[in-house]
Amino acid sequence: MEKSIILTGDRPTGSLHIGHYAGTLESRVKLQKTDKYHMFVLIADLQALTDNSDNPEKIRQSILELTLDYLAVGLDPEKTSLCVQSGIPALTELPMYYSNLVTMSRLERNPTVKQEIRAHGFGHNLPVGFVTYPISQAADITAFKAEYVPCGDDQLPMLEQAREIVSSFNRIYKCNVLVEPQAILPERSACFRLVGTDGAAKMSKSLNNCIYIKDDEKTTREKVMSMYTDPLHINVSDPGHTANNPVFIYLEAFSKKEHFDEYLPEYSCLDEMKQHYEKGGLGDMKCKKFLNSVLQETFSDIRKRREEFSKDKGELLNILKKGTSQAAEITNKTLTEVRNAIGINYFEDVLFINNLTRSSV
Ligand code: TRP
Repeated sequence: MEKSIILTGDRPTGSLHIGHYAGTLESRVKLQKTDKYHMFVLIADLQALTDNSDNPEKIRQSILELTLDYLAVGLDPEKTSLCVQSGIPALTELPMYYSNLVTMSRLERNPTVKQEIRAHGFGHNLPVGFVTYPISQAADITAFKAEYVPCGDDQLPMLEQAREIVSSFNRIYKCNVLVEPQAILPERSACFRLVGTDGAAKMSKSLNNCIYIKDDEKTTREKVMSMYTDPLHINVSDPGHTANNPVFIYLEAFSKKEHFDEYLPEYSCLDEMKQHYEKGGLGDMKCKKFLNSVLQETFSDIRKRREEFSKDKGELLNILKKGTSQAAEITNKTLTEVRNAIGINYFEDVLFINNLTRSSV
């Protein structure tokens, strides 16, 4: 049986943080274990360039950082293809065709892009490449004929855009070439997008509020211990809030039953711990110590593996080269079908060529 294709991707703009792990890396590793799917993980360097055109060096370095993060968390290049967007020609050609099927006003309505434009403060200097990146991302997804795209909820508008392009394309060119993708969202809602250690809506390098997968034991501990909590929870006995409290949001994302048994047996589960915090009588220090234990346990083997893989950078490049050529091969097939469907395959189209010779006599 043909395997279904899964495609996911990340922009290479720095190493990945624990929010990426909870949001998507962990589920990628799970998906890799089933043999119903073949997964491609795309390092979207061209998308990263849309708002980093002046800093290609950051992207070059991040390609290897991402590869290390992938290998460290357990993505296996024998099972999963790790590939680089700029090395896959179909991904730059398809957007040319798709861009005719999307209106400016549709692009301007994309809530994720809108929010990013605001955050950047582009003003009148908004690059065309940036507003149109959802078209390029639709090409990423459809070129592989991906049925599933594991991602965070911020990517839902991109999937919606991709589905619209698929249905327009298949309708206008009277074909069935492109496949509509579906998102696979993280199981735990806290993982959709992890808040920063300072309580800001998002972990972001520029806010300096991330815990990175590669952070060593000491750095992780220091970051946890200085996390923002509930500003109204001053004395241990004060009732506390858990809803917008990053310590509890992280516990929601990472803690498991076993962690309670091992490090905090006085509670049987997170709900019990939360109740105590909300009632009053549970101190922030104790919560942070527990969170630190949970994170150390989750990431200690991953960190060790990352360390090992980083000893051979040449091998990282080989892995990417192999995955990229696998990706180029399958996406070129889609590209040919797309060109055929539009009818711009003049030099291979036998009907077109035969008609020419007939009409010339
Ligand atoms: N937009 C995604 C992000 O910012 C990265 C990405 C590029 C992607 N192409 C993709 C994700 C294709 C899923 C599928 O993280």
